[in-house]
Amino acid sequence: MYLVEARSFPHPYPLELFISFQTLYPKFFLVADCSGTIAGYVVGVKEMGSTGHIISLAVHPSYRGKGLGSVLLRELEERMVREGVKRIKLEVSVSNRAAISLYRSRGYRVVNVVPNYYPDGSDAYVMVKELRS
Ligand SMILES: CC(C)(COP(=O)(O)OP(=O)(O)OC[C@H]1O[C@@H](n2cnc3c(N)ncnc32)[C@H](O)[C@@H]1OP(=O)(O)O)[C@@H](O)C(=O)NCCC(=O)NCCS
Repeated sequence: MYLVEARSFPHPYPLELFISFQTLYPKFFLVADCSGTIAGYVVGVKEMGSTGHIISLAVHPSYRGKGLGSVLLRELEERMVREGVKRIKLEVSVSNRAAISLYRSRGYRVVNVVPNYYPDGSDAYVMVKELRS
């Protein structure tokens, strides 16, 4: 699974942090299994109150454009609703057109820009979706 992370981001999370997400938030760590191959994953956390936070979402390059990202996101949202989450937020690079388009299509909207969010100094949008239970 870490291969998907490593192939998807210029600055992947360290393996140890990735494993700790899986240990700490198993309910919100979902994996797309395509005939035994791990094709993608999404990981989220529930923060104080009723806000969910998407930490990471990635689909292996060979499996992109087939709807997997949308399926993972929808499933995570449904699980978060069941756990009392009312809104989900995330950060995405302002230059990540594919991800921004995916999030927009799922009802997320840009609420803020965080300058220098990434290690290379690039900026991030904060996007938010209000969930209906
Ligand atoms: C972003 C990512 C998860 C999308 O996964 P995916 O499985 O290819 O996405 P889907 O096939 O479910 O596409 C859903 C929607 O996303 C948008 N989208 C996906 N790929 C796109 C692309 N290359 N260009 C523009 N829009 C794109 C489209 O709106 C698409 O809907 P449509 O098929 O009806 O046009 C994938 O490109 C990825 O892993 N990227 C690298 C990691 C990353 O950037 N993660 C997000 C971090 S915040």
